[in-house]
Amino acid sequence: MKLGEFHDANRKIVGRTVLHYDAVESTNDTAKELLESDVEEGLVVWADRQAAGRGRHGRAWASPLGGLYASVVLEPKESDAWVLGLLVGMPVVRALRHFGVFAGLKYPNDAMYQDRKIAGILSEGVYRNDRYFVVVGIGVNTNVDLDRLPADVQPKATTLKREVSLFVANEEFLEYLLGQIDDLYSRYRNTRIEFLLKDYRGQCQTIGKQVRAKTSKGTVTGRAYDIALSGALVIMDDQDTKHEFVEGELEVLR
Ligand code: BTN
Repeated sequence: MKLGEFHDANRKIVGRTVLHYDAVESTNDTAKELLESDVEEGLVVWADRQAAGRGRHGRAWASPLGGLYASVVLEPKESDAWVLGLLVGMPVVRALRHFGVFAGLKYPNDAMYQDRKIAGILSEGVYRNDRYFVVVGIGVNTNVDLDRLPADVQPKATTLKREVSLFVANEEFLEYLLGQIDDLYSRYRNTRIEFLLKDYRGQCQTIGKQVRAKTSKGTVTGRAYDIALSGALVIMDDQDTKHEFVEGELEVLR
């Protein structure tokens, strides 16, 4: 059920309209359904919980009441879609830091705190009437007790509630986050994406670490070395051979 609709004319693009629902299957799916009709770029779908929240690699994203689940509709150049999904990790980390969790960015766009995941991003491209859109879905473990998350997730996850004594309302967190994404997106539209990738490279804590990357083609172990212009993670193996990694399981070893 839709609970409300907010408008903020001060935003450049992202978050000028926010649709708030109590429960949906997945905010990414709701956003895609809304794209069947004419929606403005920057539209945000926000839900209090999701019955079928989705994570990357076809995993489920546990979405109990208390967490923040939102999707943003963007219309970038199709060739920038993957990189844009990476870049949105930066505002998510910034928002967490603003509210007291000194989070870091793990490739591609996980927000981590002390090796535990606190937020994730699932960005999906969709064509509608010959136009290409990206739905960037963001899940943040804000006001969730760790024991509300699945047992196998608990040792690898944390929540804002667990790390910060101050209560932060989801509305307040979302408002700040959308402001940050709006700024990022206007920088994306006004500068070269390479500059933003440079910022991302500087903030991505995976760079310099020993990693193991599992893809459909096999496993590569080596040092995370760079971010390619395509947004791929460049891994240098022990034979000094470079491998580009985009999708798969990435484990940070040390
Ligand atoms: C991941 O790290 O695996 C990505 C998690 C993304 C979860 C968010 S919650 C809002 C949006 N709707 C979804 O179904 N998934 C994303």
